[in-house]
Amino acid sequence: MSQLKNKVAIVTGAASGIGLACARRYATEGATVIGVDRNMSSAWASVEVLAPASRFHQVDVTDGAAQKVVAADTLNEFGAIDILLTAAGLGDGGPVGMLDEDVWDRVIDVNLKGTFLSIKAVLDVMTAQRSGSIITIASVEGLNGTEGGSVYNASKGGVVMLSKNVAIDYGRMGIRCNAICPGFIDTPLLNDVMDLMPELKADVIRETKVGRLGQPEEIAGAAYFLASDDSSYVTGHTLVVDGGYTAGHSHGIVQMLGLV
Ligand SMILES: NC(=O)c1ccc[n+]([C@@H]2O[C@H](COP(=O)([O-])OP(=O)(O)OC[C@H]3O[C@@H](n4cnc5c(N)ncnc54)[C@H](O)[C@@H]3O)[C@@H](O)[C@H]2O)c1
Repeated sequence: MSQLKNKVAIVTGAASGIGLACARRYATEGATVIGVDRNMSSAWASVEVLAPASRFHQVDVTDGAAQKVVAADTLNEFGAIDILLTAAGLGDGGPVGMLDEDVWDRVIDVNLKGTFLSIKAVLDVMTAQRSGSIITIASVEGLNGTEGGSVYNASKGGVVMLSKNVAIDYGRMGIRCNAICPGFIDTPLLNDVMDLMPELKADVIRETKVGRLGQPEEIAGAAYFLASDDSSYVTGHTLVVDGGYTAGHSHGIVQMLGLV
């Protein structure tokens, strides 16, 4: 039986990709889902089919006051906020010497400060109810450097560390916080970059040990585990879901030996 029946989940970045897949999974498992995104999306309708009480707020996550309103409205209407998943984010970067300051500010504002503001918006509710599961979407690029990664990697490394600190500060109040670090997932964010650099896509797939990009639903599976009571003793954890991308380097030996 689903463990998310009667749960209320706020999901940021819910209009597309990983956030949308997580919203759909939570709805499938019985939760009411409050989607937050700066863009509307016709795909959101599929969440409301699964969980008709669900709501969508067109809000930019860099707007802390608007996120507070979403939390207050959710509490008023549904009486609780059990789950927060933060997937709103964008990709940009380049070597530091070539990186404009406004790009730095925008990526940090959305990916790191936006995550901070999303968490801050729900903490009063979660501490009052003495329960809650917060799941942040960081990245494998928050764990290791990447050529040209700079600000994106810095923002995601910040999300990993922020998540650990929320787990430390709020664990005794019944709140868990974990980060998911996806590898390379087939979404508009990734495809925008890959379409410009097909050789990068081939290289990423070569370095991904299962030999393919991930699907958003494969991140949603991890997000379901971390939202559910199956992970009741898991907090401050960084869950890598990357098809083996960060397991280590491969140098073609298994191919040379004829194993694949
Ligand atoms: N796709 C990947 O390979 C990958 C890998 C690791 C981590 N991630 C992270 O996963 C998260 C989701 O990315 P995705 O791949 O699903 O991309 P996506 O572009 O499909 O979805 C991102 C969503 O975030 C929303 N968003 C962006 N800025 C926002 C803002 N300021 N306020 C509110 N909403 C905003 C967008 O409108 C979009 O709907 C991001 O944080 C991304 O960094 C993605």
